Order: sequence, then C-alpha cells, then structure tokens
Amino acid sequence: MKIKPVNSYNEMSKLAAEIVARKIKDKPNAVLGLATGSTPLGMYRELISMYKEGKLDFSKVRTFNLDEYLGLPPSHPQSYSYYMHENFFKHVNIKKENIHIPSGNAPNPTQECLKYERQIEEIGGIDLQILGIGVNGHVGFNEPDINLKALTHIIQLADETVKANSRFFKNIDEVPKMAITMGMGTIMRSKQIILLAWGLEKKEAVIKAITGPITTKVPASLLQLHKDVTLIIDKRIYEKLKEDRK
Ligand code: GLP
Repeated sequence: MKIKPVNSYNEMSKLAAEIVARKIKDKPNAVLGLATGSTPLGMYRELISMYKEGKLDFSKVRTFNLDEYLGLPPSHPQSYSYYMHENFFKHVNIKKENIHIPSGNAPNPTQECLKYERQIEEIGGIDLQILGIGVNGHVGFNEPDINLKALTHIIQLADETVKANSRFFKNIDEVPKMAITMGMGTIMRSKQIILLAWGLEKKEAVIKAITGPITTKVPASLLQLHKDVTLIIDKRIYEKLKEDRK
C-alpha cells in the first residue's frame, strides 16, 4: 500500500484527480470505478475543471459506480445516480452509454446484480477504482460482517451506515436500509485502486484498514492484499498511524 498524507481536503482532491487524469491520458477509454459520498466531491470538481480547461477528454471513458441504494429511482435527489449526474457527469463530455450505475429500482434486483457483474467482466474489468471508506471500515456498501460476498450483491446496511448517511436525508427513517454494491472481489479485481479519507472521524477505520489484521469485520483491510493501492489520507490520521507504530 502506498500512503500519501495530505494537509487539506483540496490537496487530497487534486492528487486524486491527477491520478485519474494520468490514467485517462495513458488510456483514453479507461474503465473507472467511481464512488459517491462527501469524500470524492472535490476530486470530481477538479476533474470538471481539467475538462473545462481542455486538459481532459472523457469521450471514450467508461465508468462503473460502486453502489446504489435499493428502492431509490435515479430521479431521487439522494440516489447515487442523481449524485453522479449532478456532481460530475453532466459537466463533462462522457457518453451516456458509457455510464454504468446499478439500478436502485430494477424490477429484479438479483438479476440486476448479475447483469452488473457481467458487464464489468465483459468490459475487461476496472482499470482504476476510486474508494472512500465508511466510519465502520466499509468500502462501497460492503459492511463489516463475519463473511463477505465476492460479487455484486444486495446488502442490508449497517446501523452505523444508516446513521452516518442520514445527514443527507430529511430524517433517518427516509434512509434506505438496503443497497446494491460491488463485492470485495469485484473491487479487488480492479487493476489499480485509490482510497481517499479525510477527517478524523475516519481515523480508526483507516488505521485498522492499513495496520490491522485482514478481516471481514473491516472490509477495507482486504485492500492490504491488493498490489496497487494508493491511500490518500488526512495527515492527522497518518501522524496517528506513525505514533501507533513507534
Ligand atoms: C457511503 C458510500 C461509500 C462511501 C462512504 C463514505 O455509504 N456507500 O462508497 O465511501 O459511505 O462516505 P463519505 O465520503 O460521505 O464519508
């Protein structure tokens, strides 16, 4: 795991955007795995600026999002589909047919998972996967458990996740309790991964992910097994990590 400590949210966003931009320049039809949440918003803003300045072309880029709430249609302001369009896709020249997000209101969610996994496989896998991390160590919506599913699947959200994500909804009862998520196997097959973490509330999860035992109780700890992971993390978390190692 490569660790890049950063002093600010902006620095994290810029660094992440540079890695994405480099990938697209090397491979114009790169397959990107994308994340939602507060963490990657700055990175999307940076990528939009690069596009507007004529430095980046998304016309051949293909994308697969990590996850989606089950039961929310794409028109719902809290769906990840809506988030992606509002915060990124509508501002760049990505082609609609190259965007993939699991459908939260598919008539048959199990079939939707199988279809999504097949699409990723058929395209040749993900070249660069962007990840955030939940306060409980989840990635995508792979929640801590005694076992994890490898492929795209339906998952019941952990109470901590429902609570953490309730800040985006009018009240906690409106937060969906189920989601579709890529599995840890889907994520681990990505050729390159960057994980972003900003804020001290992520401290414990990040430290466990980096230095703790590899356990399904901290899904992000499985990333220790991947050969090309870059963690762009809050310097304050990094300092704590160094202290713990002394
Ligand atoms: C959400 C998403 C994750 C995201 C995480 C952290 O529930 N499913 O993909 O990384 O929680 O979100 P945030 O960046 O808002 O802290």
